[in-house]
Amino acid sequence: MEKLIVEGGVPLRGRIRVSGAKNAALPILMACLLAEGKVELSNVPRLRDIHTSLRLLDILGCETSFEGNDATSEVTNLSPEAPYELVKTMRASVLCLGPLLARLGEARVALPGGCAIGARPVDLHLKGLERMGAEFELTEGYILGKSGRLKGAHITFDFPTVGGTENLLMAASLAEGETILENAAREPEVEDLANFLNAMGAKITGQGTSVIHVEGVEKLTGCKYKVMPDRIEAGTYLVAAAITNGELLVEDCPFQELDAVSYKLREMGVWLEEKADGVLVKRNGALRGVDVVTQPHPGFPTDMQAQIMALMCVAEGTGSIEEKIFENRFMHVQELARLGANISLKGRMAIVRGVDKLVGAPVMASDLRASASLVLAGLAGAGKTHISRIYHLDRGYERIEEKLSAVGARIWRENE
Ligand code: UD1
Repeated sequence: MEKLIVEGGVPLRGRIRVSGAKNAALPILMACLLAEGKVELSNVPRLRDIHTSLRLLDILGCETSFEGNDATSEVTNLSPEAPYELVKTMRASVLCLGPLLARLGEARVALPGGCAIGARPVDLHLKGLERMGAEFELTEGYILGKSGRLKGAHITFDFPTVGGTENLLMAASLAEGETILENAAREPEVEDLANFLNAMGAKITGQGTSVIHVEGVEKLTGCKYKVMPDRIEAGTYLVAAAITNGELLVEDCPFQELDAVSYKLREMGVWLEEKADGVLVKRNGALRGVDVVTQPHPGFPTDMQAQIMALMCVAEGTGSIEEKIFENRFMHVQELARLGANISLKGRMAIVRGVDKLVGAPVMASDLRASASLVLAGLAGAGKTHISRIYHLDRGYERIEEKLSAVGARIWRENE
């Protein structure tokens, strides 16, 4: 297994480019199952989860290719089974459920099960699809779904679930009649998926708001589409500049999608300036602790919680973070403590008291964004931080050590 070594204390300087968004590319790849004809995607990040998705598309009967950041997919002979071996490595595999039911009237998809950051059930996906006429049975760890042609329905989510909204958007695109999704997720990646579906011929309006209308069509066709840039990767680099007291120009930064993050960073004492070719980020005096509550979009994203916590660890004063989306997303706390952070936990609330400095130590990554927070803390700390289990990081950050090295970081991979 590989580990990352980060030798901290170097202010990062220069330009760093953001890759395509993992959380947009994953549902978009699953939506390729809906198309008749070839889909050509660009700005697809080279990540482990993307390779897994392409493998899943192959198994489900698509012909795929992936060169550089361009991926293609064409359905040849659809098959309804998403096996456990793949689903267990990537929860987002469950996003093939809606497309398979819409195209085949049948799906056999392994139940994703729990994951490190919480129970994460898919009940809202299933309830919504049932409203559209699907029937489900859970047996031997698989969701067995059957339906005739799905029928449009008026669905109000109990919670604005990202994956649930995406599954239903895909299903509704080929359903008979109109679907209205209320209390839908407003995440930019949901909007990107809807724009992609429209490029294939779907009739979706209201994406990006909490009420989405879908007029079902008879068929969707291939198209060319560029995946949006990754707001969470971008946010991670904004923090990287601030935590090292450096200065970065973050290129391809979807700044308008980062409002809640930039608001909190500015409150902490970070200078952010939109330029023609990116976002300039540096410190604006000393860093201060702030209070953060994670919320569905447009609130502060849970996927940036661990990274802003790393920043608060070296800020003056006390800050707090309340995690409202996932019940168990504080595994980075004990690892940050190994680097000298002062954080106390009470249920879903973390109180972060800033310390003068962090000092490198061996730590373990527990999930994707937790890994990013450890890299950030390592960049700020004195000495070497050894981060093991970095396969988590490779699920979501394209060439992170290459990109960070190019702006001055001392970071490299070693075999354990
Ligand atoms: C997506 C993102 C993930 C991000 C999350 C919240 C992808 C591939 N992943 O995950 O990076 O952290 O949004 O912004 O895009 N829930 C239920 N029942 C359901 C569905 C969800 O109870 O049927 C709960 C979950 O357990 C969780 C919360 O709702 O507590 C949020 O889940 P959801 O918005 O669905 O997130 P994901 O789509 O899994």
